[in-house]
Amino acid sequence: MNLIITSDNQTLSQKAFQFIKETITRKADAVFGLPTGDTPKKLYQMMIDDHQQQGTSYREARIINLDEYVGLATDHPQRYFHFMRSHLIDHLDIQLPNFHIPRSDCISLHQSCLLYEALLATHPRDIQLLGLGINGHIGFNEPGTPFTARTRVVTLTEDTRRANARFFSSIDEVPKRAITMGIENILEAKKIVIMASGKSKAQAVRNMLEGEITEACPGSALRMHRDLWVIIDTLASQKLSDSTRHQAMVWGVGGDGQ
Ligand code: F6R
Repeated sequence: MNLIITSDNQTLSQKAFQFIKETITRKADAVFGLPTGDTPKKLYQMMIDDHQQQGTSYREARIINLDEYVGLATDHPQRYFHFMRSHLIDHLDIQLPNFHIPRSDCISLHQSCLLYEALLATHPRDIQLLGLGINGHIGFNEPGTPFTARTRVVTLTEDTRRANARFFSSIDEVPKRAITMGIENILEAKKIVIMASGKSKAQAVRNMLEGEITEACPGSALRMHRDLWVIIDTLASQKLSDSTRHQAMVWGVGGDGQ
């Protein structure tokens, strides 16, 4: 595992951006597994700026998103499909058929999960980006999810619904279900980069990195991956022990930036 502690969300996003840039530069048709949420917003803006200013092209790239709510109207702005289009996809030169997100607006959710599995099988991800839930979830794999879980319909915990209520007018509007890639699907990516920013993530970061590897903390499963990069900011690192901090590479907080 590689741990990078950065001064703030801006520096965190720059570090994550370096991974994206390295991947697309090396491989024009790279497959990116991507999350939604607040954490990657700056990173997505950096990708857009870089595309517009430096001409980095995503024409051949493929994007496969982690998850999608079930039960929102097709045109609801909080659907992750719309989030991705407005925060990233519509501002890059990616071809729309190469952007994938679980379909939850179809007759059979089961069929939709099977189709996503088939897609994942034929599109090995070069890099999987993740955010971390305050309860330690990755994708919408909530605490208690078996590490062998694959793409499926899940029920969101009250913690998650409460955390996501900020995007809706009230918690009652937050969907109770979602389709998500499973933990096993996530672990199949060649490289994993997980980002966590802010004080509210400090306990989850600690559980993920220092606690037992246990289903009670889905993020802890990532420690079984051989190419894992954890990028957090100072606030999210607050609860880590000194020995974990000493192993970290430090950027933008008076560190050497190596
Ligand atoms: C979103 C997702 C979630 C988020 C997590 C953190 O597609 O899969 O696991 O990454 O809930 O969300 P933010 O970044 O909003 O704190």
